Amino acid sequence: MDIILMGAPGAGKGTQAERLQKELHCTHISTGDVLRKEMASGSELGKEISAVINRGDLISDEMMLSILKKVVAGAKGDIIFDGFPRTVQQAQMLDNMLAETGRKPGKVIHISLPEEVVIARLSARKQCKLPSGETKQIGPDFSLADCQAQGGEIFTRKDDTPESISHRLSVYHKQTAPVVEFYRNAGRFVEVNGDQTPDEVFADLLKILKA
Ligand code: AP5
Ligand code: MG
Repeated sequence: MDIILMGAPGAGKGTQAERLQKELHCTHISTGDVLRKEMASGSELGKEISAVINRGDLISDEMMLSILKKVVAGAKGDIIFDGFPRTVQQAQMLDNMLAETGRKPGKVIHISLPEEVVIARLSARKQCKLPSGETKQIGPDFSLADCQAQGGEIFTRKDDTPESISHRLSVYHKQTAPVVEFYRNAGRFVEVNGDQTPDEVFADLLKILKA
């Protein structure tokens, strides 16, 4: 069954989804990663969305869904959605898309943690661009030393500036927090404490998903 991983910017969605993908042998779809790849490709679409993403706003629901549909069509096995849905309209669109394609909706897990913790995490976050062009995030599973040893270049996401972090959080409260309520009322919603070590959060997630 497909899993939805929700949480504020910096909650640890990407970190945990990567681990879950390895453990559960499913496909991790981060809409943020999909959009950043589009920007890096230099395509017209990438150019069109880059200003929106860098300042921390959401791209339109229609555009997001049309991009997502192609990625979902190529997915193998169950999917972990990371960063989607982010509006109530996207949640409704996702329900329809899963029903149309015969996919089974599973748990919706919200990683919750205090805002000052996410601000501190995002302000300190670093990325690594490997010589192959692949981007990896520096974190518990890929260290600065790993990046340097592989000849990678360290950089900061353009939306991790103090202005953009603050804007992303306000967008989250306005547009994405209502999605939490949408799922809370639908009966497949679970909350996890994100203010723990990555290993502790992962253990909690596995407990929920293997229950
Ligand atoms: P996206 O890339 O999804 O950004 P986000 O939601 O703001 O989330 P982040 O990726 O910043 O954080 P995360 O929760 O993945 O945390 P991470 O694991 O990295 O989206 C970017 C943009 O794309 C959006 O702003 C929007 O413009 C656009 N977009 C995306 N989806 C869209 C949609 N559906 N509709 C419209 N537009 C869309 O962890 C953060 C840091 O904390 C890392 O440094 C990590 O190492 C560290 N960390 C993680 N866990 C822990 C822990 N337990 N303890 C200590 N440190 C930890
Ligand atoms: Mg992420």
